[in-house]
Amino acid sequence: GGVSRSLRHESARLHVTGGATYIDDIPAPANLLHVAPGLSMRAHARVVSLDLEAVRAFPGVVRVITAQDVPGDNQISPVHAGDEPLLAEGEVFYYGQLLFAVVAETRYAARRAARLAKVEYEDLPAILTLEEARNGAGELVGKSFLMSRGDAPEAVRAAPHTLSGRVVVGGQEQFYLEGQAAYALPGEEGEMRVFSSTQHPTETQHMVAHVLGLPANLVTVEVRRMGGGFGGKETQANAFACLAALAASLTGRPARLRLDRDDDMTITGKRHDFAIDYTVGFDNDGMVHGVDMVLAARCGWSADLSGPVTDRALFHADNAYYYPAVRLRSEPFRTNTQSNTAFRGFGGPQGIAAAERIMDEIAFATGLDPLDVRLRNTYDTASRNITPYHMTVEDAIAREVMEQLANDCDYRTRRDAARRFNRDSQTIRRGIALTPVKFGIAFTATHFNQAGALVHVYTDGSVQVNHGGTEMGQGLHTKMVQIAMREFGLREDRVRITATTTGKVPNTSATAASSGADLNGMAVLDAIRQIKFRLVSFAAGHWNVPEESVVFLPEGVRVGSALVSFTALVKAAYMARIQLSASGFYKTPKISWDAQTGRGRPFLYFAYGAACAEVSVDLLTGENRIERVDILHDAGQSLNPALDIGQVEGGFVQGAGWLTMEELVWDASGRLRTHAPSTYKIPACSDRPAIFNVRLLEQAPNREETIFRSKAVGEPPFVHGLAVLHALSDALASIDDYRSCPKLDAPATPEQILRTAERLKSRA
Ligand code: MTE
Ligand code: MOS
Repeated sequence: GGVSRSLRHESARLHVTGGATYIDDIPAPANLLHVAPGLSMRAHARVVSLDLEAVRAFPGVVRVITAQDVPGDNQISPVHAGDEPLLAEGEVFYYGQLLFAVVAETRYAARRAARLAKVEYEDLPAILTLEEARNGAGELVGKSFLMSRGDAPEAVRAAPHTLSGRVVVGGQEQFYLEGQAAYALPGEEGEMRVFSSTQHPTETQHMVAHVLGLPANLVTVEVRRMGGGFGGKETQANAFACLAALAASLTGRPARLRLDRDDDMTITGKRHDFAIDYTVGFDNDGMVHGVDMVLAARCGWSADLSGPVTDRALFHADNAYYYPAVRLRSEPFRTNTQSNTAFRGFGGPQGIAAAERIMDEIAFATGLDPLDVRLRNTYDTASRNITPYHMTVEDAIAREVMEQLANDCDYRTRRDAARRFNRDSQTIRRGIALTPVKFGIAFTATHFNQAGALVHVYTDGSVQVNHGGTEMGQGLHTKMVQIAMREFGLREDRVRITATTTGKVPNTSATAASSGADLNGMAVLDAIRQIKFRLVSFAAGHWNVPEESVVFLPEGVRVGSALVSFTALVKAAYMARIQLSASGFYKTPKISWDAQTGRGRPFLYFAYGAACAEVSVDLLTGENRIERVDILHDAGQSLNPALDIGQVEGGFVQGAGWLTMEELVWDASGRLRTHAPSTYKIPACSDRPAIFNVRLLEQAPNREETIFRSKAVGEPPFVHGLAVLHALSDALASIDDYRSCPKLDAPATPEQILRTAERLKSRA
């Protein structure tokens, strides 16, 4: 028992009854203080004067914090670029930047007082959009990265056909339900305990220590669960943990900060929007000969994770397709907007969007069914198997998965039916598309691919599991419990998972890159196997049986021909002074990456899948509906099919939201105008497909030795949203009788659909 079972989420009951504790639910001591941020109201300006008298005078205000009050280093750049002050120092770089913080007896007083600051600005030139960055000074937040194999310009030139274009994909707000929040408790001699809604407790610990000027051993960061992270709390929880800790440190009282939604959206970074210029050479059969792309991204005011995000866009600009010759270059532009950051897929989906646009372009140019162009260009294991980063694709199952899905969901028949329907329908048009995903699993920065765990068996036979990963709703903790259940032969109620804390498992990586279960699962297993090893050798000696005859089963531990309860074994082992606790460790094997040469094996393996979406579009209004979606997804030998299907469904919906309805709008002054659900629309229940069939690929154990042969599942299904964008594009293509590629950019809002329809009508 244990793994491969649909055990329900360990907090399911608490989630639905409201009993689950988030940062703001932690019971407050009477002397709790509240922190609220004061924000820049200019996109780029010199701060001529900052008058905080009225703020300090507001009833209930205890302290106002500015950059000068930071005892340690006022710098929280996660990649050590040195370009991210915690609190602005004399110059502000975007509308919403943290300028000061107010500490007050009530949250209301802190928030009210924060608005009373008198700030004098001297405006400086601001670069807001990707277009302005490309046409203007064009400063980058990090190095432009080049990935190439073969002579792409020559392959493009020599191909029978060439075409060029640009695909634009918008940004996206993470919209976690629990906003950014932190709670800091000061202790003796500078000790600081911080509860933070963070995906990366270790980094939060280091940032707090750095800002307070303390060694890491005085700071403990703890997180039981997040109400969603989606990448938005991989680095960007740090600032708020630091502010809460600063307030606690400067006042000696516990302090809590919980951002209001509007402030959260105004302050924090989002998914990078990209403009990708492509040139592709191909032949009459729709086969790619060469691809040349420049991928420009709006990174915002500081580097944050923009380097690795734009790198990953390059790593996925092939999606499931073999490019015989290829050249890819990133342009991570600095802009005077929020510092864009991790968001499910980490730049991968943007790169994949470009690959899929190229497939569509070729289909329209050759008159082939887009699915056939896609199928023909997929990697195979024989010879067309080298990625743009020189890694060999060993499993290449995208074609198989796509063909199976196309058969299962009747893609070809339904495509014909949609075309017939469109011939007789003026306003409503139907469209269908089937797109694949191939997603590389591992952190591209090799050293992050390590994890630790700490497992305790108590003398009553109950087990406590600690590991370095964080729970954000994805079910990681549930999977870790399942591993302990299986290995010890225990029931669910005998295994307890605890909050993640830097005091129990140190030096962890962010729970990110979908590798939470891959990494921590193996570390948990390592700890458990150490304990089992000791128990087995003890039992063999104690009961005088061979070690092989000691087996942990759901009904108890078989010791030779006898059956001993797990508790009895543990008690006996304790009496014999056997250690019942172990720390586990894991590092991903086989991977390597040389960023200098752009060569290596950055990923241990790939996760695959395919999605088919059918939509209808109203050509008068641009309104549209997802009629049906079929997804076949590869989770390897799933650790928990119910949780994994939940990840696929949620990922798809979030991906479709990104590409169709979620739109970020800044005004000319650089102020984000879509900073609340009233103006920023994420998918609602009513937006899910009317017919929604999600299946996991069967009999598909991971070829690599991952935890029980499972595959990571957190991010790859996000890419399935692309099937919707391409189905919308297919519906619009009917306007000029499928003669030209609609080149529908994202987000394909009703306005964008109407603009594209107008363009096609003028050609028809
Ligand atoms: N699922 C839920 N419910 N909430 C989340 O915040 N984050 C996603 C994905 N699925 C997220 C989620 C992101 S961005 C990642 S990287 C993975 O979960 C992280 O968890 P894992 O590594 O355990 O899959
Ligand atoms: Mo996920 S974007 O790697 O936190």
